Parts: sequence; C-alpha cells; structure tokens
Amino acid sequence: MTTLAFPPAAAPLVRFTHVGKQFAVDGGELEAIREFNLDIAPGEFVAIVGSSGCGKSTLLRLLVGLDGEFRGQIEVAGKPVQGIGGDRGIVFQEHRLFPWLTVEQNIGLGLVNEHLTQAERFRRVSEFIQLVGLQGFERAYPHQLSGGMAQRVAIARGLVASPQILLLDEPFGALDALTRQQMQDELLAIRRRAQITTLLVTHDVEEAIFLADRVVVMEPRPGRIKRIVDIDLPHPRTRSSFEFHQLREELLHELTHDGEYVAPPVVRVEDLPLAYIAY
Ligand SMILES: Nc1ncnc2c1ncn2[C@@H]1O[C@H](COP(=O)(O)OP(=O)(O)OP(=O)(O)O)[C@@H](O)[C@H]1O
Ligand SMILES: [Mg+2]
Repeated sequence: MTTLAFPPAAAPLVRFTHVGKQFAVDGGELEAIREFNLDIAPGEFVAIVGSSGCGKSTLLRLLVGLDGEFRGQIEVAGKPVQGIGGDRGIVFQEHRLFPWLTVEQNIGLGLVNEHLTQAERFRRVSEFIQLVGLQGFERAYPHQLSGGMAQRVAIARGLVASPQILLLDEPFGALDALTRQQMQDELLAIRRRAQITTLLVTHDVEEAIFLADRVVVMEPRPGRIKRIVDIDLPHPRTRSSFEFHQLREELLHELTHDGEYVAPPVVRVEDLPLAYIAY
C-alpha cells in the first residue's frame, strides 16, 4: 500500500479563473478588471487592498452574483456562480439597514430567500443576534444604534442564512479607530464560531494584516493583481510587533509604488493663504 507524503490540498471553495470585467461608459468601454485569478481555500480569510477604482467592489458583486456579465469563470464549491444564493452573504460598505425596520426585522431580511417556518426564522434571527452581541436591542431601530452596533446588525444579516462565504466591502470604514479595532476582534471571534470563509475589501493595510491569512494587493486601470502576500503571523496578532510593522511597510510600499502613483505636492507654510495660518 502506498501512502501519500503530503495530503492533497483541499479543493478551493472559491475559484476565480481569468476573470475580466468591462463597463460600457459614454459609448466606450471601461476595463475594470483584467485577468483576475484567485483560489480561496475553505475557511481561509483573504483581504483585498488597492486604491480607489481598482475593481474591488466589482469583484465582490461578481462573486455574490449581483452582476453576471463578465469574462472567465467564478466557481463556488466547483459550481459556476449563477445569481445570488444563500451560500454567499455580503456586508456592504455602508450598513444599508432599513430605518423603518427593527434590528430583528433587518437581520430577518437575510432570510428572505430561505423557505423557513415562522418559528425557525425567529430562532435563526435570535441566534445571530446573540452571535453579534446585540441581545436587548431586538426591537431597536437603526437610529437608536451606534455605528458599530449598526455594522454588527449588517454582519448578522450577512451571516443569518449560514453562508459558506462572507463577503465584506469596507465594513468598518465609517467607524472611529477604537470601534474599528473592537469590530475587528469581533469579526475574528465570529469567524471562529461560524467557521466561515471570508473575503474582505479594505483600504486599511493594518486591518488586512491583523485579520487575513493572505492579502491580495491590486493595482488600478485596469484593476489587476499586483502581488499576493501571505500573513503567517499567529493569532492573536499584535499591531506593535516587529513582524507586523515589517509587513505593513512592505504592503504600503506595494500600494504606493505602482508607477501611476503621484506624490502629493509639498506645500510650504509661506505659500498657504492667510486664512489657513490664522486658523
Ligand atoms: N456600474 C458601473 N458602470 C460603469 N462603471 C463602473 C460601474 N461600477 C464600477 N465602475 C467602474 O469600475 C471601476 C472599478 O470600480 P469599483 O467600484 O469596483 O472600485 P473599488 O476598487 O471598489 O473602489 P473604491 O475603493 O473607491 O470603493 C471604476 O473605474 C468605476 O468607475
Ligand atoms: Mg468599492
């Protein structure tokens, strides 16, 4: 009997193969994504960083099935993506909660395509309210929540259908630095409990290093992969460690040296209008 020296690598849960995307703009074509290839293993946490307009949100929209017009192939668990489905949950940049619905009703929207009894629906919503720590706020309306709590509702809505993959588009962009760090810890804890494969888009290199197993650095016009960096630091990660600092420098270097990057002009104090100086 022969034994394999190495177990075969797990089949990817998500596979982007030769993905390209163009938009028709003003009678012309805008190439938003070119030749995007990426495999994501089950349970993996991948972050995508890149400057504004390099196609990050477009990639998430393609994977979640909101836009079916693209070149190449996107597969989830070996099957081509066809429209939205309960196997993929998404959290958008702004939380997009409905102001006239309560916390539990907003989370329940994540179950609209599931065929569940009323009791089962209630049980699932309650379970996810617990998971994101919002017990006691079931009947609250979005305007009664803090920004961090509203984001947790959005995350619960993204998770409530028990997807295999959670897609997050700048989920913490609008939060202050402290709440943001708390939400990052929260997300890691949720991931541990829900065992979910995660694809996060962020502008924040530190956030990507703190959370992800791999960071995909994209470059713009057209949006394409510049480099993929493995983050081998053990959890819990310390932002102040030497290795963390080194990775941050490396990633920032990748992001800011893309040929098209133009350094902001140096402004001398004496060139500023008086109004600035008086202030
Ligand atoms: N529906 C659309 N119609 C036309 N062009 C679009 C459309 N959606 C996106 N684009 C263009 O595609 C490119 C990529 O956009 P996308 O929103 O994916 O960028 P992004 O990386 O998410 O940027 P940001 O970091 O600012 O959110 C941009 O040039 C944008 O103008
Ligand atoms: Mg975007």
